Amino acid sequence: MRYMTRCCWWISFFILATGASSSQTLREAADRSGMLVGTAVRPQQLSESLYATTLAREFNMIEPEDVMKWETIHPAPETFDFSQGDQLVAFAVSHQMKVRGHTLTWHQQNPKWLTGQQRTPEQLARILEQHIKTVVGHYRDKVSAWDVINEAFDETTPVKLRSTIWYDQPGIGYAGKGSRYMENCFRWAHAADPGALLFYNDVEAEAVNPKSDAIYAMVRDFRRRGVPIDGVGFQMHLGNPHPDVASISQNIGRFTALGVKVHITEMDVALPVDADGNAHSADLQLQAIAYRDVASACLAHTGCTAIQTWGFTDKYSWIGSHSKHTQGAALLFDREYRAKPAYEALRKMLESSRRR
Ligand code: XIL
Repeated sequence: MRYMTRCCWWISFFILATGASSSQTLREAADRSGMLVGTAVRPQQLSESLYATTLAREFNMIEPEDVMKWETIHPAPETFDFSQGDQLVAFAVSHQMKVRGHTLTWHQQNPKWLTGQQRTPEQLARILEQHIKTVVGHYRDKVSAWDVINEAFDETTPVKLRSTIWYDQPGIGYAGKGSRYMENCFRWAHAADPGALLFYNDVEAEAVNPKSDAIYAMVRDFRRRGVPIDGVGFQMHLGNPHPDVASISQNIGRFTALGVKVHITEMDVALPVDADGNAHSADLQLQAIAYRDVASACLAHTGCTAIQTWGFTDKYSWIGSHSKHTQGAALLFDREYRAKPAYEALRKMLESSRRR
């Protein structure tokens, strides 16, 4: 009995010791491989100790999930509310993290004062210019990259520019002139912070498909004409754990060849869940492979510099309400902040990459 106890103690010691020497956090693995590993954050959860400690330990970049969107940051025509955004930036500063800003122009989560009133294109252009310059100016040198435009293309075939207040309802003066309305947004953001990287961000454009073709044509045109765009964000909200990795890699390759950076901006891998929110363990393994393979596709291209997830704990993920609770368990940590197979798969993939 005594022998057994001592023997087991030595075995545990050995496992712990060897484990400790090879294991590192996601953040350490990313730092060593010269990558950004980020996540979307809800500042109201920062007071929850496990939330804050996990966040600071595992990520070197954060992005506001909602609090820099128009409805929060610009709640009335002459009112900007930076309080929650500032809280997030302060957290990033105190933990040496970068901040991605999200988002300056979108068709959702806009305040009623903006969408509920008829305006001329000139009036709307003035409002948008003031918004972009005020928000980007406020976070000058604090937010290192901005999603200047979010989801400007729609889901139809053939792909068209989405009908929005910014494009053609009534639009800021370029209705029917293709992607030209976005150029001013990039120029205004660049004027407010010439050091920030400016991104076009979209959903369901991660593989080679008609939508990514349209974005590719736009970005190539912007680069040729000197519109200040630095990168493209692929959201990577996967509705199942079977991404077309070869096509994703090919797509990342053609964008980075244009000279723009690629960021994976909002990755989650939604799984079917039971009434308690639990997924099957076989699906959790497939999910791990999906995270690993997407990371591998990014790491294969030096211009792909960030992998970001849309939240990090299944306790707080938009997938539940978005899917009416038929899907969930989409992130790297479970609801008790325990690392899932996906965490380990992503960490190992980052650890195995040395890009510096
Ligand atoms: C989502 C947030 O996660 C939710 O909290 C909010 O209720 C709706 O928006 N694409 C985007 C993100 O660019 O801003 C969205 O975030 C998810 C889809």
